[in-house]
Amino acid sequence: MSALKLQGKAILVTGSSQGIGEAVALRLAEEGADIVVNYHSHPEGADHVVQQIQASGRKSVAIRADLGLVPEVQRLVQESVRALGRLDILVNNAGVEKNADFWSVTEADYDLVMNVNLKGVFFVTQAFVRHLMERKRGGKVINMSSVHEELPFPHFAPYCMSKGGVKMMTRDLAIELAPFGITVNSIAPGAIETPINSKLLHDPAKLNALLDNIPLRRLGQPGDVAGVAAFLASSDADYLTGTTLFADGGLLWNYSEQ
Ligand code: BGC
Repeated sequence: MSALKLQGKAILVTGSSQGIGEAVALRLAEEGADIVVNYHSHPEGADHVVQQIQASGRKSVAIRADLGLVPEVQRLVQESVRALGRLDILVNNAGVEKNADFWSVTEADYDLVMNVNLKGVFFVTQAFVRHLMERKRGGKVINMSSVHEELPFPHFAPYCMSKGGVKMMTRDLAIELAPFGITVNSIAPGAIETPINSKLLHDPAKLNALLDNIPLRRLGQPGDVAGVAAFLASSDADYLTGTTLFADGGLLWNYSEQ
């Protein structure tokens, strides 16, 4: 049997009760890691993920937190460390989006998207990095960005702005944290079949228009993204930092005239 890539690693995956985060948590556990499953609104989903991981012989706990609140993210990291003994890797996966015309965006929706997708990522990472510094250990940060860190997405302005912020956070922290042996990379998924996309999945006209934009002619599956996360979490990616890997079936750079 080949050695597991993440044997004995302790990993926190935010937003892992469903969607891409769930697939990432399960895949990292398959590679041998112990996992903290963080959730906000779906305790039953989180428990289900935890049970599957425990059944495979790894440690796992579910911890609820509102990632938009700094004391909550600090508690999340503290409780994760208590549960697993330490943390080696952080996957900043949790994210939300709101569809609205620019001129109708409410302050509440703007704050929700920015707080979870950008401020939350910043302060979870800060708490994780402080933990690594206390223990004098290196580690890895993996951010779930989006093709929309590059690509405009009309009617989703705050979402795109948050992902643009994650892109620059990835680059900036990669440089600042390199001397501490901490790498920071992002994954930019395209259109993946998850609950965040449920409206689109049930609208055949919109779905077909989207498929026309994807050179590989299919939506991505959460597992397509989880495989990239497993690579970035492994020692195979030790020399990568400040980079975004696109998992989008070619969506971002698609252009043709026919
Ligand atoms: C968004 C989806 C969108 C996809 C492709 C993702 O970041 O969350 O709503 O369908 O990008 O545009």
